[in-house]
Amino acid sequence: MKKLLLLLLSVVIIISMVGCAADNTAPDAETAAEQAEEPPALFNKTLVVYFSATGNTRNVAQNIASATNADLHEIVPEIPYTDADLDYNSDCRANREQNDDMARPAINGSIENMEQYETMFLGYPIWWGNAPKIIFTFLESYDFSGKTIIPFCTSGSSPIGSTAAMQSVTPGANWLDGHRFSGGSSSDVVMEWVNGLGL
Ligand SMILES: Cc1cc2nc3c(=O)[nH]c(=O)nc-3n(C[C@H](O)[C@H](O)[C@H](O)COP(=O)(O)O)c2cc1C
Repeated sequence: MKKLLLLLLSVVIIISMVGCAADNTAPDAETAAEQAEEPPALFNKTLVVYFSATGNTRNVAQNIASATNADLHEIVPEIPYTDADLDYNSDCRANREQNDDMARPAINGSIENMEQYETMFLGYPIWWGNAPKIIFTFLESYDFSGKTIIPFCTSGSSPIGSTAAMQSVTPGANWLDGHRFSGGSSSDVVMEWVNGLGL
């Protein structure tokens, strides 16, 4: 009788141990399934990229990055623009580049893991009504298909204008309407615009 009881007890213990083991694996399997359905947060990040020759666009870009908790990246020209390069009343480098469809000023450095970003704010100063050619160097360096691009600019007075030329070099990207800021725009002004985007 004792032996029979011991045997029964052993059977009960073994069954409950197997049950526990099964319970332990179930949550892991569920978590794995959930993870497979939703892309990891790592791939939904926002990036603020900007080029700024004299600091105005940098100021706005920094405010956007703070307001959106985004990563911030500066497009740095391989050959920096001197004051003479930016003297638009002369035959300066900036003017020559803007008049040359083929101009693609080289960029120093690059962005690793561009694929982790879903949304990108893209900032630049207006040069003769358009984005500087270095912005085209940047846009042609990555695959932006499936990403949302939100352009912004600073200028003396010109509006942001058409982004059609930039759109043409980023096939598959979703461009939102852009926004022009004046040089000294406050963080409140920037925040108001960001909040109005409904991101
Ligand atoms: C070569 C050049 C061309 C410019 N063209 C224009 C223009 O067409 N319209 C305008 O309102 N401002 C123009 N500006 C002024 C800049 O857009 C303005 O100062 C801008 O805020 C500079 O931004 P940054 O400090 O980030 O470089 C021009 C500036 C330069 C250097």
